[in-house]
Amino acid sequence: MYIKDISLSNFRNIAVAKTCLDKGVNIIYGPNANGKTNFLESIYICSTGRSHRTKNDRELVRFGENEAHIRVNIQNESSSDRIDAHIRSKDRKGIAVNGIPLKKSSELFGTLYTVIFSPEDLSLIKDSPSQRRRFIDIELCQLSRVYCHSLQQYMKVLKQRNNLLKNIQKDHRLKDTLFVWDKQLVEFGTKIIQFREKFVADLSEKASLRHRQISSSMEELSIIYMPSSEGSSFEEKLLSSVERDIFMGSTSHGPHRDDAVFNINGNDVRIYGSQGQQRTAAVSAKLAEIDIINEEAGIKPVLLLDDVLSELDKKRQHMLMDCISEIQTIITCTGIEDAVMSYAGRAAVFNVDNGVIKREK
Ligand SMILES: Nc1ncnc2c1ncn2[C@@H]1O[C@H](COP(=O)(O)OP(=O)(O)OP(=O)(O)O)[C@@H](O)[C@H]1O
Ligand SMILES: [Mg+2]
Repeated sequence: MYIKDISLSNFRNIAVAKTCLDKGVNIIYGPNANGKTNFLESIYICSTGRSHRTKNDRELVRFGENEAHIRVNIQNESSSDRIDAHIRSKDRKGIAVNGIPLKKSSELFGTLYTVIFSPEDLSLIKDSPSQRRRFIDIELCQLSRVYCHSLQQYMKVLKQRNNLLKNIQKDHRLKDTLFVWDKQLVEFGTKIIQFREKFVADLSEKASLRHRQISSSMEELSIIYMPSSEGSSFEEKLLSSVERDIFMGSTSHGPHRDDAVFNINGNDVRIYGSQGQQRTAAVSAKLAEIDIINEEAGIKPVLLLDDVLSELDKKRQHMLMDCISEIQTIITCTGIEDAVMSYAGRAAVFNVDNGVIKREK
């Protein structure tokens, strides 16, 4: 799959733009604060229904305007699709595929597959477990509607259970109704855990291969799923912690507390990894995602690489560029670095200057 063209109006600092992209590598370069990330963000919104940087749609609309529009034309093997996103500063956004408005943005999953690497993605390695869960959830939602549904239901039931736990603190008789929520929580939670187990095992295998490529076989990456109910079933853990949950007024075990650990040569990258190692591990996980989407959905996603090369040494930069030859890639950089330069002959090059995107070659 690849993006043929993208049109923007009043999206962040981009007043109007219509950009035709190449099937292969597209290099977007320009100084800081000119709109490179904004451009990638608009594509990501058409893929997942939301920004990778903000939950607040109002920020996406150009200062002084009320609405922003994004239109993306996609070419699949034997069909094409059009996605229109209509972002309003004071109302919910509307998204349509081939002119048909979607009821929920989750219906968008599967129309445009993207894998993004942005500086924020380092939080995948560095930050709290919630970032790793978010990563796993976004990927699995792109791949499976069953997962997406189970996750939505789980979060809904969890909220209701937590409310009930707080009410039980005031009136203990309500405890008799807890089993209703527990049954559903176990049903959806167990499904989520099974999906995540398989996904992380697969991710680990593929990311380890990619990491070996980029690090010239110097480093061995592994990713280990750490369910909060480790060692016993989710149901057992949930039932054994009921009294504690009532005391705390929240649910202490379940997929909402899961984590995954990234190890390089057996050591936790979050604790022991250098900046470059952390970045390489995050990039390897992202490249592994491409392999998984390709295997599971039979589709080569569009790769969005935002400022990925900084912090990687020259050798790693070149190795990375070598890995991305087969899929449409949109890569941003502030100058045309060495590694990108060696690609420039084969790539489409765009300059971004104060929100104006111009093709140079
Ligand atoms: N809603 C908005 N309306 C107008 N301008 C905005 C809006 N939101 C952000 N901007 C502007 O967009 C610019 C940032 O764009 P962007 O993040 O795409 O920069 P960049 O080219 O990726 O820079 P860097 O190389 O530093 O990452 C900033 O100058 C910011 O003020
Ligand atoms: Mg940027």
